[in-house]
Amino acid sequence: MKGIILAGGAGSRLYPLTLVASKQLQPVYDKPMIYHPLTTLIEGGIRDICLISTPHDLPRFRQLLGDGSRMGISIDYREQARPAGIAQAFLIAASFIGNEAVALILGDNIFHGADFAAAFCQFERGATIFGYQVLDPERYGVVEFDGSGKAVSIEEKPVTPKSNYAVPGLYIHDSEVVSIAENLEPSARGELEITAVNMEYLTRGTLRVEKLHRGMAWLDAGTSTSLHDASAYVQTIEKRTGTKVGCPEEAAYRRGFLNLSQFEEIANTMPCCEYRAYLQGVVKQAGGDS
Ligand code: TTP
Repeated sequence: MKGIILAGGAGSRLYPLTLVASKQLQPVYDKPMIYHPLTTLIEGGIRDICLISTPHDLPRFRQLLGDGSRMGISIDYREQARPAGIAQAFLIAASFIGNEAVALILGDNIFHGADFAAAFCQFERGATIFGYQVLDPERYGVVEFDGSGKAVSIEEKPVTPKSNYAVPGLYIHDSEVVSIAENLEPSARGELEITAVNMEYLTRGTLRVEKLHRGMAWLDAGTSTSLHDASAYVQTIEKRTGTKVGCPEEAAYRRGFLNLSQFEEIANTMPCCEYRAYLQGVVKQAGGDS
């Protein structure tokens, strides 16, 4: 399976933070936000990734992540000229997707405590999206389930939500998604809507909605308050456990995308800092374990 990280957008709710650097480059406690969705894909076993951002911000992402080899992955960069909707990602990345299934993750979505490896590796066809219980579903796409737990509708930002299950920004689709996106009309707000894509799969009877368990965290970091909350969350977990949340190099090592000596070499090229000390601690522990 291939992966797309969509990291463009206007970031207007974070103004003036986003005047010079995009939302997904802002720090979430001790790392750039983009490290989180990147880690989610790597943990799930995806190593062929397309990163989409604005013409203004794309050079910064290249500077940060390079060709991905430092994380045992490959990154293909594509531009979105203007924020014309999440589903436009499938058109921009059409040649990258080819005939393969693809997991699209939004660059400001942070997942912790969820393991998507099974969902990625068992996926065959159609679409799989997720449902996560929230207090304020009206801010998101909302899934309605029937008595048997089957999804029957998805509504984008409904005034009266039919459930508390919001759809997080991680979607798995087969390669049909490109032709579905090609046939979409822009919505009233002028965007190609991801909900319209998922509705098409629902109509075709090939949409699966998996409920995420309540013990995991799904955070989006699109407003000053939610960005601060996400930083506080990451700091709390890291301080308590001594492990890092959203560390792509470590995820790549644990996934086998980097061997121990490659991982150690990468840590050693970093300047002296807390991040390097952490990676070196992982190396030391791995050396002791083996
Ligand atoms: P949003 O948070 O809905 O939009 P935004 O980032 O433009 O922010 P604001 O509403 O404050 O102006 O977008 C969700 C994610 O999807 C975010 O990571 C940006 C990304 N995105 C794109 O990259 N391109 C797009 O066309 C859209 C609509 C979103």
